[in-house]
Amino acid sequence: MKSYKKGREISKELHNLVPGGSHTYSKGDDQFPFASPPIISHADGAYCWDMDGNKFIDWAMGNRVFILGHNNKVVNNAAKDAIDRSTNYTRPGILEYEVAKFAVDFFPVAEMVKFGKNGSDVTTAAVKLSRAFTGRTHVAVCKQHPFFSIHDWFIGSTNMNSGVIESEKQYTIGFDYNDIDSVNRMFDEYEGKIACLILEPVKNDLPLNYDGNFEPIYKNGKINHGKDNFLTRLRDLCTKNGTVLIFDEMISGIRFDIRGAHHLWEVYPDLATYGKCISNGFCFSMLAGKKEIMRLGGLDHDKERVFVLSQTHGSETVGLAAAIATLKECERVKINEHIWSMGKKLREGFLKLVEQENVGEYIKMIGFDCNPQILCTKSDGSYWPELQTSFHEEVIECGVLIPWITITYAHTDVELELTLKALEKGMQKIKRAIAMDNIEDSYQGDAVKPVFRKYN
Ligand SMILES: Cc1ncc(COP(=O)(O)O)c(C=O)c1O
Repeated sequence: MKSYKKGREISKELHNLVPGGSHTYSKGDDQFPFASPPIISHADGAYCWDMDGNKFIDWAMGNRVFILGHNNKVVNNAAKDAIDRSTNYTRPGILEYEVAKFAVDFFPVAEMVKFGKNGSDVTTAAVKLSRAFTGRTHVAVCKQHPFFSIHDWFIGSTNMNSGVIESEKQYTIGFDYNDIDSVNRMFDEYEGKIACLILEPVKNDLPLNYDGNFEPIYKNGKINHGKDNFLTRLRDLCTKNGTVLIFDEMISGIRFDIRGAHHLWEVYPDLATYGKCISNGFCFSMLAGKKEIMRLGGLDHDKERVFVLSQTHGSETVGLAAAIATLKECERVKINEHIWSMGKKLREGFLKLVEQENVGEYIKMIGFDCNPQILCTKSDGSYWPELQTSFHEEVIECGVLIPWITITYAHTDVELELTLKALEKGMQKIKRAIAMDNIEDSYQGDAVKPVFRKYN
C-alpha cells in the first residue's frame, strides 16, 4: 500500500491555514478517495510526484490546464524570456499587441479580443458586455453544463449559493442542451428580456448517428453537432431574438479543435471564451468576438462606457508569452490528431477491459474521444459515487490519477498501457465488491461528493 503520511500531515496543516485546504474546490479532499495523494510536490510531462515520493501518471493535469504536458520546454522558455524583460509595464506592452494580432488572425470568431487571467474573468465579462449591448437583464445558462464562473450571476444558480443576494439569483435562468423546445419556451416566457445564452458548445453528448468514428465529421467540418442541428438552431434563435450567443470554450477549445469546438462544426457564436490549457499551465484567458459588442469596452464610441475587464495583472507578460507559444507549438505538433487518436486508443482499451471483466453495467466511458470521462453507475445508469470512489482508490494505488481525463501531447502509448493495467485492476476490484455487496467497505474514508452542495 502506498503511504501518504507526510502529505496528510501537511494537508492537515493546510486546512488550518486555508478554508477547504485547497484553492480550487474540485481539488478538495471531498473530491478524491481518502487513499490518494493529498499534496503534490512536482510534475513533469505526463507524471506527477507527491510529498511522500509516490509517482503517478497524471491524466487530470491540474484543472485541465495543460495540452502539451507538464513542464513543456518550449512554453517554459517563452515564459522565461518574458520574465527577463519584466512582467508588467506602465503602458500596454508589446506582447499585448502581438498576442492580440495573433489571436485575431488565428481564431475566426475573434474580431476583437480582451485578455484575463482566469476563465471566470472572461465569462463574466462576456455576460456584462451582453447586458450592456442588449440593454436586457436575463442570462440563460445551459443546465447540463456544471460551471461557468466563480461570480454571483452563476454561483447564485447553484446549490452552493450562500452569500449571494436574491437580486443576483433572479436574473439567471436555464435551458436544456440538445432540447431546442426548452430554448423556445424560455424565449416565449422571457420575451425581450434575455441578454445572452451561455453554454459549452459540446460536452459529453455525441452527435446524432455517431458511429464511434469521428473522422468524417472532422474532415468535412460540415455536420452540425447536437441533436437535430441543435447548435445551428440555437444560433438562429439567438439572432432572431437579438440575444448574444456565448460559447464557453474553456474545456472544449483547443482540445476538440485548436480554434474551438464551434469551429469544427462551423457554428459561430457572438462571443467565445477561452482559458485553461490555452497557455499550457500559465495564467491566461481570452474573450473573443464581434467588434460591435466588444468595442463597447473601448474608447471610440458614444454609448455608455462598459467596465468590461480591467485588471492589475491582466497584461502580465508571462501568461501572454505562454499563450502564443502554446498555440504555435500545438499547431506544429498537430495537437488535435494526437489527442483524438490517443483518446480513441484509450476508449478501445477501456471497452476491451469492460468486456473482459463483464462490468459494462457499472462502469462506462462517456464523451468524445478527445475528452472522455469514466463514470461508475448503478444498473439503472445513475451515477454511483461510492463505486466511483472504490474504483479510483484502486487505480490510484496502481499509480494512475484519473479523476477526469485531460489528454496531452505528453501522454503516449507507454502511459496508455500502464493506465489500462491500472483500470483493469480497478474494474476487478469493483466487480468483487459488487459480487459481495459491500461497496461501502471497499474503500477508506468517505465517498466523493458533488462540489455544489448546500452543506458539508
Ligand atoms: C467550462 C468552464 N467555464 C469557466 C470556468 C471558470 O474558469 P476559471 O476556474 O479559470 O475561472 C471553468 C472552470 O472549471 C469551466 O470548466
